[in-house]
Amino acid sequence: MVRLGIVGAGRVGTALALACSRTGVEVVAVASRSEKSVERLVQLAGLDRSVVCSSPNEAFERSSVLLLSVSDDAIGEVCLQLTKGVSDKRASEPGFRVVAHLSGALSSSILSPLRKLGASVGSIHPIKSFSTDPHVSSDLKGTVASIEGDEGAVQTLSELAGVLGMRPTEIASEAKPLYHAAACIASNYMVTLFALSCDIMVRSGMDPALARESIAHLMGGTMRNLQSQPPEQALTGPIARGDSDTIKGHLDALERIDNCRVNAIYRLLGLETAELAKYGKRISSESVDELTSILS
Ligand SMILES: NC(=O)c1ccc[n+]([C@@H]2O[C@H](COP(=O)([O-])OP(=O)(O)OC[C@H]3O[C@@H](n4cnc5c(N)ncnc54)[C@H](OP(=O)(O)O)[C@@H]3O)[C@@H](O)[C@H]2O)c1
Repeated sequence: MVRLGIVGAGRVGTALALACSRTGVEVVAVASRSEKSVERLVQLAGLDRSVVCSSPNEAFERSSVLLLSVSDDAIGEVCLQLTKGVSDKRASEPGFRVVAHLSGALSSSILSPLRKLGASVGSIHPIKSFSTDPHVSSDLKGTVASIEGDEGAVQTLSELAGVLGMRPTEIASEAKPLYHAAACIASNYMVTLFALSCDIMVRSGMDPALARESIAHLMGGTMRNLQSQPPEQALTGPIARGDSDTIKGHLDALERIDNCRVNAIYRLLGLETAELAKYGKRISSESVDELTSILS
């Protein structure tokens, strides 16, 4: 039975603690940089105050699986703290220990120094955007969790992911930066596109709240289409129809906006969209050439 420790009581750490409480995974230790964050996590997840630890080292000593849900930049620092602070006696105690971080970009190699403490090291990255509301974020059902690391860590983390309702999958350690870039394009840049689209809509004269609602509705519908159709079929709009005059009109209108990046973003994504339309045989090759020349 896993005795879970969590270091880092932020968005992900708190959501994980709540998910554990719901699924019966025993959380035995929680540490963070500030007491306030730990108290908040303990209260939200309905944990006993006895789980509170004064340091990551104490959390390591108490748990069989320790998840480092600290910011990516702090993982190395916490790892160093553990290697320096955990007593040799505790580290050599029998029993299997796993230490893993949750970063999508980093591999578990950053935790290699912990092997000398007898730990099996790994990483587990849930492909999910954790919102500030832990009650929403703690619903991990169906979330794909990408796992890599030492054999024992991979096995334990895969089992834990399954208990928490996630879909574990293995990822090659060296592929993590590329893999994480893909996740960032889908999630982070979608938020940026949302914000950009709202801004332009408001410039067209629409009320800001209505602009936000209408674009959220539009993007939500597109996402639903993408769940049942390949992208080249889900694509709608002027490029999918080959309406080149409409694209020219967009570019003229965007030219007047005092954000020089908007025009470049529109053109680059337009070129990529034309390639998608071409791939899906949605438009003729003449249309693709015309659109490419307008957008280049
Ligand atoms: N956010 C996401 O959507 C998401 C998705 C998948 C994976 N991840 C990964 O999950 C990890 C955590 O991300 P997050 O979004 O939860 O970050 P976050 O909300 O900023 O939380 C990070 C927590 O780490 C704590 N911390 C920082 N330095 C520390 C240290 N030296 N010792 C102990 N605790 C320390 C902070 O503590 P205090 O609050 O106590 O100051 C903070 O609560 C990252 O590796 C991230 O890449 C995030």
